[in-house]
Amino acid sequence: MDNSQKTFIITGATSGIGKETAKGLLKAGGRVVMIARNTKKAEQTEQELIADTGNKQLDILCGDLSLMEDVRKLAKTIIEKYPKIDVLINNAGVTYFKRTLTKEGFETTFAVNHLAPFLLTNLLLDLLKKSSPSRIINVSSEMHKRGVFCAVDLQWAKGYSWSKSYCSSKLYNILFSLELSKRLKDTGVTANALHPGLVKTNIGAGQGIMSFTKRVVDVFAINSFEGAKTSIHLAISDEAESITGKYFEKCKQVLPVSKYLTEENARLLWEASSNMAGL
Ligand SMILES: NC(=O)c1ccc[n+]([C@@H]2O[C@H](COP(=O)([O-])OP(=O)(O)OC[C@H]3O[C@@H](n4cnc5c(N)ncnc54)[C@H](OP(=O)(O)O)[C@@H]3O)[C@@H](O)[C@H]2O)c1
Repeated sequence: MDNSQKTFIITGATSGIGKETAKGLLKAGGRVVMIARNTKKAEQTEQELIADTGNKQLDILCGDLSLMEDVRKLAKTIIEKYPKIDVLINNAGVTYFKRTLTKEGFETTFAVNHLAPFLLTNLLLDLLKKSSPSRIINVSSEMHKRGVFCAVDLQWAKGYSWSKSYCSSKLYNILFSLELSKRLKDTGVTANALHPGLVKTNIGAGQGIMSFTKRVVDVFAINSFEGAKTSIHLAISDEAESITGKYFEKCKQVLPVSKYLTEENARLLWEASSNMAGL
């Protein structure tokens, strides 16, 4: 497949799975637009990725995905700057040991892992449709299996733990992909979710007790090169072009597992998220 005329937007490419995914897409010849919160880190990553791949078609857009005002600015810039988007990869993700709120009043894990991809994708939908065939990829996790969908407390105001918040946000990623694929029927825009594997990255770093657990878990983890394979597969393989509304692991379609994965919950999440994001 010729990727030289393709534009790939990816969030969270300054580290871990996102950085390797960006590298893979640059190696495949595409133009990559990284959305990053830390300008200095993004510039260092840019230099590194260009040196590694020899592909200079790499742009940086800076913004904090925990803030919906930044997400709106990012979407506006993308729409003004790029005549088409072939692939949007919602990859950035966080987990926090303690519950914190953003200055806009959202629980931070919920804001970064769910509301930001929800809003960014929705604001870019017209451009994605105009660019069809195009693809939306949501990086979820196997941890969705431990997530809970509670329509009246999506942000864990009661009984917060890092695990409840993170796992539920990854469940929301799949519910979002399901509803999105339904709404995008016959538009030529696909929406899928994936589990990258258990990957040694920076996620959860510097989070007290979690950092210790992480060091233990990391012994069993794969590296980011392996962890990026499913994202890259969904982004550029011919095989994935027409598949939508599915969940992938190790580059293969598998069934996500949760009693909360229902059409009704997907619809409720969409409605609640639209209200919260002011759509
Ligand atoms: N690692 C695993 O085992 C695993 C397993 C299943 C799913 N996942 C998923 O994979 C995705 C990537 O995670 P990772 O493991 O590669 O973690 P990572 O190394 O910590 O990378 C996360 C990326 O997201 C960016 N990010 C975080 N908060 C942001 C914000 N507010 N605004 C903009 N960018 C922000 C980070 O930027 P900075 O560089 O500035 O921090 C970084 O580039 C996540 O969605 C995660 O849930 C990971």
